Amino acid sequence: MNVTVRGRKRHYRTVAFDEKSNEVLLIEQRLLPHEFKVVRIKNYRATARAITDMIVRGAGAIGATAAYGFAQGLNAFRGKDLAKFQVHVDRVFKTLADARPTAVDPMNAMKDLIRQINAGESVLEKQEIALLGAHAFADEDANHCRAIGRHGAKLIRNGTRVLTHCNAGWLAFVDFGSATAPMYAAQEKGRKFHVFCDETRPRAQGASLTAWELAQQGISHEVIADNAAGHLMQRGEIDLVIVGSDRTLGRTGEVANKIGTYTKAVLAHRHKIPFYVAIPESTIDWELKRGIDIPIEDRHESEVLGAWGKTSGGRREYVRIANHASGARNPGFDVTPPELITGIITPSGIFKPRELWRNRAKLQSATD
Ligand code: MRU
Repeated sequence: MNVTVRGRKRHYRTVAFDEKSNEVLLIEQRLLPHEFKVVRIKNYRATARAITDMIVRGAGAIGATAAYGFAQGLNAFRGKDLAKFQVHVDRVFKTLADARPTAVDPMNAMKDLIRQINAGESVLEKQEIALLGAHAFADEDANHCRAIGRHGAKLIRNGTRVLTHCNAGWLAFVDFGSATAPMYAAQEKGRKFHVFCDETRPRAQGASLTAWELAQQGISHEVIADNAAGHLMQRGEIDLVIVGSDRTLGRTGEVANKIGTYTKAVLAHRHKIPFYVAIPESTIDWELKRGIDIPIEDRHESEVLGAWGKTSGGRREYVRIANHASGARNPGFDVTPPELITGIITPSGIFKPRELWRNRAKLQSATD
């Protein structure tokens, strides 16, 4: 996506790789919207930490980061001994796989790389295959998101008022985003519409990231408190909901996404407002049979008990909001059942959630 940083408009991918220095390049998303900074991550352990600490976040973006982190880790191996290399591969895989549990994209990306490196006969060949595979994953993520935009754009007409939750935008992928891709494609077609961004407590990805992205793109938008959506729906001020997903079960059509998504789906259903989920193929879990078995990340209570912001003096600071003697529960994601979902926007078209399994061959071979 093109973003204007310090007065200069430039195209950025959210995740990139410097082959010469074997470093992963990430936009430091915790500083947005106040500061735009690209950071260099030096080794695979630090790359895993960048995912855990949410320097980079969002399903596709952490998928690409894990893919590059995997290649980075493999590249750091010195020697020709294949048995020792395999031990190293397993260690790199586990470190990155443990970084965050809910989004399936990192696992899908790395399992695919492992299948690919099996074809290599030497350590060097396997290292080269892993890097090419990581680049291919990042390119495919960008292409899939663009295709999601093409299919989803028809849902947005002149005057449509769209609600989105969290950030399933360019920052959550390598480029374009999933939930935002139909918006960017509709904008390219000259349509004028309005987006309500759920603030998305506790980490406020809607207020800080989605709002920043839409402002960068010149799309009309307003941030709303998470609790305001029901009221706006009741007053007829929302026509369409589009969200992303961190893991969608191919067998059942259940959708894990940022905490609060399920609440919005229930509200949309009550008010007969179409509710769509936009996903690339890497977000589909074809194995898991029940939504209840999706690992839901429990994050630190400090995220709920306070908030990060920028002081008037320009310092990034955490302030405590909640009562000092109180603790908090902080589940990061929830699961929305298929009966509340109007359609899943994929790179291969729009499907009913329960149609994913029947269309798996088509979805798995999606190019763009
Ligand atoms: O905790 P995050 O910020 O990594 O959560 C991911 C998300 O932004 C959302 O759940 C999003 O809607 C899906 S990720 C494309």
